[in-house]
Amino acid sequence: MSNSSLIRPLVHHLHAYVPGEQPKIRGLIKLNTNENPYPPSPRVLNAVKAAVDGRLRLYPNPTAQALREKLARLHGCGPENIIIGNGSDEVLALAVRAFVEPSRKPGVGGQKSECKVQYFHPSYSLYPVLADIHGAARNPVSLSPNFTVPTITELKKGGAWDFNAALTFVTTPNAPSGCGYATAELEKLCRAMKGVVVLDEAYVDFARENAMKLALKHPHVLVARTFSKAYSLCFQRIGYFVGHPELIAALDKIRDSYNVNGLGQIAALATLENLEYYRANFGKIIETREELSRSLTLLGFRVLPSQTNFILAKPPGGALNAKDWLQKLREKKILVRWFNYPDVKDYIRITIGTAREAKALVKAAKAILSS
Ligand SMILES: Cc1ncc(COP(=O)(O)O)c(C=O)c1O
Repeated sequence: MSNSSLIRPLVHHLHAYVPGEQPKIRGLIKLNTNENPYPPSPRVLNAVKAAVDGRLRLYPNPTAQALREKLARLHGCGPENIIIGNGSDEVLALAVRAFVEPSRKPGVGGQKSECKVQYFHPSYSLYPVLADIHGAARNPVSLSPNFTVPTITELKKGGAWDFNAALTFVTTPNAPSGCGYATAELEKLCRAMKGVVVLDEAYVDFARENAMKLALKHPHVLVARTFSKAYSLCFQRIGYFVGHPELIAALDKIRDSYNVNGLGQIAALATLENLEYYRANFGKIIETREELSRSLTLLGFRVLPSQTNFILAKPPGGALNAKDWLQKLREKKILVRWFNYPDVKDYIRITIGTAREAKALVKAAKAILSS
């Protein structure tokens, strides 16, 4: 008997999420997973170090109470409006489990609205995987050209969008395009939706606007945030939702009892006491983003305007396609990301690193172009 017969068919056939590589190559410039190039603030590092002692034998606070209280003060709401996850990936997964009925026939197809996980394409490639893991139907709907969100009229006309979908994810600003969306437009979309809408604001600290007020105004809207990108804390895995207490309580029922590790809670709390440090870093990253975009544009790349800590750039036409660029840059010890999806396969996604790393990338691009 083969072991595969012991595995549920759904799991057996599942295409798992593919995270960006984390290679250990000496001298590598790592611009592939949207990590922050700047370390956490010294106060955060000290807080974590100070907590590494005999207390590690104890369970952490099961509801991350202190962190929820501090975040509540930051966002002008109560701790009952907030749930913390092991990274925002966890709260996104909880939303699928809490709000979407598994369907009889998972995959893309004409399923009932209550079984649908809906999202724009391209956006965060985890959403379809979460739907598949749960056995829910997926409803990917294409963004407009230039990666903007279609208007309500366009969505109605297109016919593919389900205004009753149980759960809709909107990545804002979008990944991997970097395109920012106006809160007024997002509000129109939220108002038109009957099911839960998650506004995934993983990159919002690098954007002009955020939509947090929508989570506190509309009972079916949740905003997802993370400490990973803007707050240099990928390693500690802290993300959260803000939204109506009834939705938050439903999510709280199904999470693991101790889903947020203790050192992560301590690091996130210390981060919130040091926001000036991080805001200065956002400024540096935005400056580098704009400078890098200008330099690559001068070299013939088509760089999409970005409101995130990465850019999506189409290399100049020539013998090399985007996948070749990934390889050529890798040979020069610069790691970027390439996605094999129809709408973005001609682009490479470049995380914004330090100004020095951006210069090295431009130098490498020049060398590749002239070789
Ligand atoms: C759009 C988006 N949402 C959420 C996440 C998950 O972030 P984390 O689980 O590290 O909080 C990512 C990470 O790449 C992302 O790109």
